[in-house]
Amino acid sequence: MRRPVIAGNWKMYKTRAETLAFFRDFLPLVESSRHCDIVVAPPFTAIGAAAEAARGTKIAIAGQDLYWQTEGAFTGEVSGKMLAESGCAYVIVGHSERRQYFGETDESVQRKTKAALEAKLTPIVCVGELLAEREGNQTEAVLKRQFDGALTALTPAEFSRILIAYEPVWAIGTGRTATPEIAAEAHRFIRGLAAAQFTHEQGSALRILYGGSVKPDNIKGLMAQAEIDGALVGGASLDAKSFAEIVNY
Ligand code: PGA
Repeated sequence: MRRPVIAGNWKMYKTRAETLAFFRDFLPLVESSRHCDIVVAPPFTAIGAAAEAARGTKIAIAGQDLYWQTEGAFTGEVSGKMLAESGCAYVIVGHSERRQYFGETDESVQRKTKAALEAKLTPIVCVGELLAEREGNQTEAVLKRQFDGALTALTPAEFSRILIAYEPVWAIGTGRTATPEIAAEAHRFIRGLAAAQFTHEQGSALRILYGGSVKPDNIKGLMAQAEIDGALVGGASLDAKSFAEIVNY
């Protein structure tokens, strides 16, 4: 049985003060939620505040990105070790916005995933196709390229520690969610890649989150799919009430 994970990706939203206000409202709403792992990914500057606010709860904090070196002359970058020390247990790697706007490649995703594991963080590795790729029947080829490029270099032990988020780019921030069936089909394909590369057991144990316009009113349908092990939520994770409704699907 795969334990569900509901993760919020705040992107470039929320100051420290707004982060504290969020947790004040959010904590009581999820206090008795034991059915899933809960993760919040604030911007770097609010990680300390979030970790402080979540201390003693079962909510885990995530970074939204990391660099693969542990330290050095890399202006503007943050390492896995720094994230872990700031209170993170997870880190998002290869989000499509990083791929689209900041030159992230499958190769850098691979290095960052390895670095996250070395820092004892759980990487949430994002994959997903563009609209034109889906319309051109390229979805599986793209997912395979992203999976192979980023993940086949991992050892089986390393692979067992990662999460994958399937986030079709056309569904992110557009209000256009993949139907539960479309998402489940992609998840099944990704799980098959994992089983082929590693073992059938590792494929079965892999937790795959869906991301892209997840809201309180569509989470139930998504989670009803056996293939969908959780959600990576952007916009709807910014509001304590709506994120709590998603957690408590
Ligand atoms: P969204 O973002 O929920 O706002 O579509 C999801 C994501 O980018 O992780």
